[in-house]
Amino acid sequence: MASEAIAVDGRRLQAELEQLAAFTRCEQTERNGGTAVTRVVFTEDDMAARAWMKTLFADASLQVREDAVGNTFARWQGTDPSLAAVGTGSHTDAIPHAGMYDGTLGVLGGLEAIRSLQRASVRLRRSVELVLFTAEEPTRFGIGCLGSRLMAGTLTPERADGLLDAEEQTLAEVREAAGFVGDLTSVRLPQGVYSSWVELHIEQGPLLERESLDIGVVSAIAAPASYRVRVDGFGGHAGALLMPDRRDALCAAAEWILAVEAAALHTGAVDTVATVGTVQVHPGAVNSVPSGVEMQLDVRDIDPERRDMVVAAVRLAGEDLQEKRGVAFTMVEVNADPPATCDETIIEAVEGASKRNGFSFRRMVSRAYHDSLFMARLGPVGMIFVPCRGGVSHRPDEFATVEAMTNGVQVLAETLAELAG
Ligand code: GLV
Ligand code: MN
Ligand code: MN
Repeated sequence: MASEAIAVDGRRLQAELEQLAAFTRCEQTERNGGTAVTRVVFTEDDMAARAWMKTLFADASLQVREDAVGNTFARWQGTDPSLAAVGTGSHTDAIPHAGMYDGTLGVLGGLEAIRSLQRASVRLRRSVELVLFTAEEPTRFGIGCLGSRLMAGTLTPERADGLLDAEEQTLAEVREAAGFVGDLTSVRLPQGVYSSWVELHIEQGPLLERESLDIGVVSAIAAPASYRVRVDGFGGHAGALLMPDRRDALCAAAEWILAVEAAALHTGAVDTVATVGTVQVHPGAVNSVPSGVEMQLDVRDIDPERRDMVVAAVRLAGEDLQEKRGVAFTMVEVNADPPATCDETIIEAVEGASKRNGFSFRRMVSRAYHDSLFMARLGPVGMIFVPCRGGVSHRPDEFATVEAMTNGVQVLAETLAELAG
């Protein structure tokens, strides 16, 4: 595939990313330092964004279908529809106070890759299918990659439908209210449904920018795990409950959070990370001693055994607090997934496309998770990273240049052409 035949329209991509970013409830302030986006799955903003994106898919003559959990598939038919398609895509939900590029580049950039192939009058034997996954972010239902987990069969339909949001509504209720009905068993896809899968994403880390490289060729995706943690103590009046009599749940939780940090640091490996990202304090009043705390813990490593050692250490630290501070500690696993290895043929296709265009590149590990982690259960996967400013992500000041994104879409388009041609 000659690179010069395929011309990516980076300006149009940027304009569409900006349009998508407008589907948000997040307040835009000077302090954000960028476009702040909050787009939680199945909210009004998410549904409006999906409706708008479906018009873009239709404008590109893609055949659109949606499954029972709202995963959306937009297919560009190949000359031999009997062959397994090549898949690409990502997510468009955004965590609270996020930026406008995480996931969205993989969807709108995937669309632009297909359009650039269409404009170049490329005809491919295999179909190319663009996928918009439901709830890659764990914000609403507490588990990441909801749509792709169900596709890959790593989450049972029963457990998924019973997941609760903060208002104690089940996924079953929420998805049905959003118009996605039917049995979740139908979301599962067979092995080999895609002959290859390639996801384009911003790096979300600093390496490409630091090393002045155009393209990251992902070799593996780190193994994520997450847990719901509860500390129950003994609350009461902040003035009257004497210090020696207290079993303050928040003080115990604070001590445990520091133990989490220490356990991750203790491995000495740069790839081990652990975060307590949410803390809810009960009853949450300035003049009341905290009686209960709920937290969410996120632990990742490219080495799942080392990750599990950290998990065991923090569990032990929690159990020690029971003795030391007289509180009850519970830690329940939400997910603990294995890492994924990218496919050498896809890696070489990405590297080949980079070379043809004169783009500098390196192989790298993805420390963030992606729907590709679960697509890897169904067949060979690869990922293309482009640099983002300062490596910043999950923040409003997340930023990627039009040039960086255009390079990524060019590599994606040529990779899709090679894999589907
Ligand atoms: C994805 O958003 C992640 O948390 O890695
Ligand atoms: Mn994200
Ligand atoms: Mn993402």
